[in-house]
Amino acid sequence: MKTISIICLATGAGALMKTSGVGPGRPGVILRAGLKTAPSPGTAKTVRPPTDSPLPPKKAIDDVSEDEEQAVRAAVAASAATVEAPETESKPFFDTGGEKWSTFGAETSSDYLTLGKCESLKTPLRTYEPAVEAPAVPGKRYATSMDLIGNTPLVDITAVCKPKNPNTVVLGKVEFFNPGYSMKDRIMKNIFDKAEAEGKLEPGMTVVAASSGNTGCSVAMMCAIRGYEAVVITNEKCSEEKKAAIRAYGAELLISKPGQCYMQMETDLAEANPTWFSVDQYNNLDNPNGHYKSSGPEIYAQTAGEVTHFVAAGSTGGTISGIGTFLKERNPDVAVVLADPTGSVFKNYYKTGELEAPVPFLVEGVGKDNIPGAMDFGVVDAVVDVDDKAALRMCATIARKTGLCVGGSSGLNVEACARIAENSDEPLTIVTMLCDSGVKYLSKIFNDDWLREHDIEL
Ligand SMILES: Cc1ncc(COP(=O)(O)O)c(C=O)c1O
Repeated sequence: MKTISIICLATGAGALMKTSGVGPGRPGVILRAGLKTAPSPGTAKTVRPPTDSPLPPKKAIDDVSEDEEQAVRAAVAASAATVEAPETESKPFFDTGGEKWSTFGAETSSDYLTLGKCESLKTPLRTYEPAVEAPAVPGKRYATSMDLIGNTPLVDITAVCKPKNPNTVVLGKVEFFNPGYSMKDRIMKNIFDKAEAEGKLEPGMTVVAASSGNTGCSVAMMCAIRGYEAVVITNEKCSEEKKAAIRAYGAELLISKPGQCYMQMETDLAEANPTWFSVDQYNNLDNPNGHYKSSGPEIYAQTAGEVTHFVAAGSTGGTISGIGTFLKERNPDVAVVLADPTGSVFKNYYKTGELEAPVPFLVEGVGKDNIPGAMDFGVVDAVVDVDDKAALRMCATIARKTGLCVGGSSGLNVEACARIAENSDEPLTIVTMLCDSGVKYLSKIFNDDWLREHDIEL
């Protein structure tokens, strides 16, 4: 005899279904309440012994009476009626003019937080193109490598810190899920799309880009996909892993000598070769636009608009400017915080409008010795200064507490988030970028010899 289990689906108005033990989805085994199947040979199952469940024990279908079915329906309807919706908490937002920063733990600059922007930096410098929210793979059956760019997960990494308020969450955007393993794929997609649409980049051309490594990887990857020659310029600080990745895509890699400016090398090469397309990520506004159009809308949607703080370190400034602008347009109370490595010129420039002499630091890809055109301090509400040791220790903490292996700039970003979380009485939703993969730095920040050499104790 064919036997079935009674299971209750608590969705809907006390729905009741009977299924065989064979499994859902097979013809003839899922039955609506009240229907009975003819026994079929070879599908008999043993009836399980009764449990402590308040519901009737599982029975053979032929033994289930209509009355028993009705009783189960009534029990489910009654239990559903007792379920109350959880209370939703309202989250405070912060006034970016500064007045409400007291709820954030500080009214004036503190030992870790620089507030009080100089007057001339207070107005955002530019407008953005409308953001487009397109489906991931419109009209296609299978994805291509281009479709892998963007739509990265947002992951709860609160475990790496001790927020003052138990309802604070710290969320990291897992940008190493992009095919080039960093968030720079987003801006390169936008820059290539725009340049091709405007006729600045045509078949047969060579693309040249200066980069601390990640943009170089993305340029090399995009050129491989779209059939251009690539020339990438980086400096000695770039990890061997990033250099190898750039070459792996078939790009030519040039390394600037100490004292040489790799951004100037890009300009000089583009001038000397008029058919080359210069990416110019430091001044090209299609860089911040790439984030304004993709990561900004993603973060807003993934937090259901609950984001209170966006934290990011800057190099070109494309990330913080593009995402910061988008989030503030949606909610002007979102606080945009620049995480800055000790030694970078951004913090002092933010405070005074003056450039001071840079001091070398270890973390790759963030901080700067000049102010790039893509950076918009108009959207920045505060700066958190983070030194190498704190940033790199946080990388180890993230790997060991969350299982995510991230690069140094992600550690720096998350350290800044942790300080904000640990200093605020209010419940916050803090979002940051996990900019690239720690696998790009295995020979450095995850290498005991290298750490010892640089006096970093984990
Ligand atoms: C690893 C890493 N993190 C962060 C950044 C900073 O991003 P942005 O140039 O958009 O300011 C970069 C830029 O090169 C980077 O390579």
